[in-house]
Amino acid sequence: MTKVSMTVNGKSVSGDVEGRTLLVDFLRGGLGLTGTHVGCDTSQCGACVVHVDGAAVKACSIFALEAEGAEVRTIEGMANADGSLSKIQQAFQDHHGLQCGFCTPGMVMSAAALLKDVRKPTETEIREYLEGNICRCTGYHNIVKAIMAASGQDVSTIAAE
Ligand code: FES
Ligand code: FES
Repeated sequence: MTKVSMTVNGKSVSGDVEGRTLLVDFLRGGLGLTGTHVGCDTSQCGACVVHVDGAAVKACSIFALEAEGAEVRTIEGMANADGSLSKIQQAFQDHHGLQCGFCTPGMVMSAAALLKDVRKPTETEIREYLEGNICRCTGYHNIVKAIMAASGQDVSTIAAE
């Protein structure tokens, strides 16, 4: 076992991990942050997306030790300081961007990373960016709408589904 230390949602954390321990398993099993989901074993679904040093990363695709010293943010760290939903989370709620919710943490984390880089993405840009996030329920339409709304854009031109 090797000690790993990082900052998660603003708090310094550490734990003993094996070399093969994935970041997602350290977050969920080691730290109890179960909002980061595991939806596949092929790094395809995106349910496990977190931010590592500001970039969206599939937490099942890197080892915990690779995040040594990093700033990690998970869905548990996305709400506002007063506990209210962040703008992106609220937009998902307002525009019905979720059904079962399994993909939602990863979707929100990916959306946040996109909006950090592209303030007002087009519908096409959003759909392309979300290629690594799979949703089995919504058909994606309302997720795209929610992200456009979170970026302050008019969504009235997007037809209801
Ligand atoms: S659990 Fe990481 S991509 Fe599916
Ligand atoms: S809301 Fe169910 S998988 Fe996306």
